Order: sequence, then structure tokens, then C-alpha cells
Amino acid sequence: MGASAEAWAAFEEAARTAQRRRIAGLFDAEPERLDRLSLEAAGLYLDFSKQPWTLADLELGLALARAAGVEAAREAQFAGETMNRSENRAALHAALRAPPGAGFAAQGRPVSPEVEATRDAMAAFVGKVRSGELKGATGRRFRAVVHIGIGGSDLGPRLMWEALRPLSAPIELRFAANVDPAELAFALDGLDPAETLVVAVSKTFTTQETLSNAEAARVWLRTALGPAGDAHLIAVTAAPDKAAAFGAPAGQVFGFWDWVGGRYSVWSAVSLACAVALGFEAFEELLAGGAAMDAHFREAPLAANAPVLLALAHVFNRNGLSRPVRAVIPYAHRLRLLPSWLQQLEMESNGKRVDARGRPVARATAATVFGEVGSTSQHAFFQLLHQGTEVIPLDIVAVRRAREGDPEAQRKLLANAIAQAEALMVGRPEAEVRAELEAAGLPPEQVDELAPQRTFPGDRPSTFILLDEVSPRALGALLALYEHKTFVEGVLWGINSFDQWGVELGKTLAGRLLAELAGASGAHDPSTRALIDKVRSG
Ligand code: F6P
Repeated sequence: MGASAEAWAAFEEAARTAQRRRIAGLFDAEPERLDRLSLEAAGLYLDFSKQPWTLADLELGLALARAAGVEAAREAQFAGETMNRSENRAALHAALRAPPGAGFAAQGRPVSPEVEATRDAMAAFVGKVRSGELKGATGRRFRAVVHIGIGGSDLGPRLMWEALRPLSAPIELRFAANVDPAELAFALDGLDPAETLVVAVSKTFTTQETLSNAEAARVWLRTALGPAGDAHLIAVTAAPDKAAAFGAPAGQVFGFWDWVGGRYSVWSAVSLACAVALGFEAFEELLAGGAAMDAHFREAPLAANAPVLLALAHVFNRNGLSRPVRAVIPYAHRLRLLPSWLQQLEMESNGKRVDARGRPVARATAATVFGEVGSTSQHAFFQLLHQGTEVIPLDIVAVRRAREGDPEAQRKLLANAIAQAEALMVGRPEAEVRAELEAAGLPPEQVDELAPQRTFPGDRPSTFILLDEVSPRALGALLALYEHKTFVEGVLWGINSFDQWGVELGKTLAGRLLAELAGASGAHDPSTRALIDKVRSG
């Protein structure tokens, strides 16, 4: 057995014994538990003490991280080595958020000068739009931006806008991702083309949904403004030739690079529309928060390294305890899109069944991630979290101070977040429920029937992440935390976290099917054939 296989076996075996004890009991058994399992990183507070591991288990996890080469892989990533073997690319999103002069190189080629030049160009553009110096085709100021993009070219900016938007924005920002024409119709509804910028974002500039929406938006601009409407169309892409072929006017294209994965691209010009609507300082603050988390990830010892502990806690549940689902619950309306962003980050990065060399993986990889904002979700699916047949580990993300509104309401929200973490862990024993029902005078048969239904098994793990405020800096730190956690898991599982071949087949078939819906013929299974016929006959 190799060092890594031995380390895996020890960690997984330790996790199996976790089923014979209760998390809540570990606080007495390990007086230093909270101290060792909570930490501050880049302004975030993280508490891993409600996870089912002991401190000794954590040591085994750290040994696993070392044996799997997490430290060397981390350095290789920051050194711009080829992390994405199947596409022969570096994965250097950290270069995008580094302060000027950082000197990053991707596969040996310096990239920081281009990154900084693009950032400067963004800052200049944002400044001109916001000051009114840059005007629309009819001489009016821009008052709205429509961001068109999908997947990594949508989820990060959409989350950023919802997290940071002012209550009343001088420049409104809307999004359209889906090829469903309804979304673009809603995005454009009520906007005046003479005052609207359209930013089409696509790393490849080949994505059907984005090209279709960008074309429709261009028609919308031209219908109102004539050919001069093209001056309102901006492209953001790593394929400037394709953007030019689409007709994006020269001088209105902002670049990024193939060493930035789509789902890691919120730090690039992909966020141009957000920067216009929020101001460039907000974007810079987001970058600073991400850079602070990078420094923490690179410098903190593994035992006090937030992304490493977050990854190990997940792996303990996922592999050691065979838990295939995890939930992420942001207790902040402003962070309600965090689960959607995380779904792409984790499931597209690590939803892989073969390793980076094409061999079947030795163990389960990414869990299914789902989530919704708290406290709302408590009234929807928390029943299952408390009393369902499966144990679903949670990340609870809460915020100390609200940016607006009644501080008392914010206290209520925090009380819910903290109470849920405690209730899930502590539960409510049947004996206590029985005693209460008996004291209320219920007959024994009714006590027998009701007590199990009102019992909470508890021992359901969570990690608690606390932000001071939903500031751009804290958001940057939070997103980078999850990026690095996903990376560490990929290293532990031996997979390439930076490609996504699994999305290709559906795209190819959809292309063929589009032609068939318009009349072309093709061979299909009977079920698919019937669906095509039904749609065609409608
Ligand atoms: O279909 C998945 C995907 O390739 C994602 O990885 C990517 O974020 C998204 O599509 C959008 O791609 P693009 O930015 O090239 O339009």
C-alpha cells in the first residue's frame, strides 16, 4: 500500500468509529476541542467542532493531506504549473486577485502584466461609465447594464451583485443566462436601449445560450438605435477572435485567459458589469479578500488552514461516513445565491469518476450540494435534515452585522442560525420527550405513538462560518475559501478539478436535436423519438 492509500485507510477507519459516539460528547472528552477546531482566516471565523471527528481523527486527516501531496500541489498551482492536464492549462485564478507586481507566470509565461493592464482598462471603463463621460449612441448616460453569460460566466457575478447591491442603485444591473427567451425578456423589460449597456460574457464565445441571448440583445439595441447600437455592446472573453467573428466591435472587448477556469473567473473582466454597477472599489475589495484567503491558504499550517479543514471535514463525511449529500445554508438574504455558485464550483470541478490519468477513482468524489437561504429554508426542508433517514452535513454561513435594516431582526436571524447548528448536533432524546408527554397527562398508548415522532436523533454535523458583514472583502475571502477547499478535495481524490468533459455530450446532442426539431431526421431511442415528434407536431 502506498503512503496515500495507508493514510486513506486510517482516516476512513477513524470515521467509521465516529458512528459509535456522539459529537456533543466530544466537548467534555476533549477540553481543547473548540480551540483546536475553530480559527480565523482572512476575516472569517470558522468552527469545525460540530463535525463528527475527534482531534486524533483530524491528525489522521492532516497526515492524509500530507501523504496526498496537498502542500506540493498548492505550490504547483500558485507556481502556474499545468494543473489541468487534459486541457494542458495552468489554473491560476489567484493571479487575478493578486496585488500589482505579484509576478505570476502560467506554465512559465509571465501573466501578471496582462492581468494588471486588463484591470486598469476595466477601471478606466468603469470610471467613464459611472461619471457619465462615456455616453450612449444618442448622447444619454448609461443607467442600466445587462450581463449575458451562463455557468461560470454568470453565477459568480450574479452572486456578487445580489450580495453587494445597494438598496437603490444609480446603475441597474440585470442578468440573462438561460436560452429560454423569457429570461432575456425579463432582463430587458422596461429598460431604455439608449441608456443600456449589454455585456456579453463567454470564455469560449461558442456557448449556444450566450450567443443566442447576445444576438437577441444586439437586435434589441439596433432596433432602437440603428447600427450605432453596437456601441452599447461589450464582449468579455478568452477567445477575442470568436468575439470579433460574432461582431463585437473592436475596442469593446475585454480579455481573460485560458488558464482561468470559467467557474473560477469572477475575479476577471467577467465581473465587468458588476464593477460598473457597484463601482470599481467594490471589485478591488473583492479581489483583496480573495488575495487574503490565498495568503492564508499558502501560509497557515495545515492544522489551522481553513480550506484544508473544510475539505477534510467534507471528506470525513463523504468517504469515511458515506454521506453523498451536503447542504450549504447561508443565513443572509444577500448570500442566497451562494449555493448555486457552489454547485457549479464543487460539482463541475469534482464530479469525476476517473482520476487525472484516466483511471477509475478509488473512492466517491464530490457530494451533491444543495442549499437555500436560512431562515426561509427551515420552513421548507429542515424537517428532513433533523429527522430524515439520511444524515446530511451542513455548512452554515452567517453574518454578524446586517448592512441595512433593523439590528433586532438581524439578531433573530443569527439566533436561528446558531440554534439550528446546536439543535442538529444535540437533538432531543426520546426519554425527555416521553417525560414531557407523560407530565402533560397523555395516556401511555399515545405517549408510545407520539414520543418517537417528536424525538430528534441529533448528531448531525455542521461547520459554522461567520462573516462580520457581507462586504466585498468578506465575500472575496469566502469565495476563495471554497475554491481552495474544492482544490484540496481534488488533490485528495487525485482528480483534475479544472476540466469539465461531462458537460460536452449534452451540448452536442442538443445541437443535433435543434436541427431535428426544425425538420432534419436522425436516429433515436423510442422515448426520445416520441418527444421529438410531440414537439414537432405542436
Ligand atoms: O457547460 C459548462 C461550461 O462550459 C462551464 O464550464 C462554463 O462556465 C460555462 O459552460 C460557460 O462557458 P463560456 O464562458 O465559455 O460561455
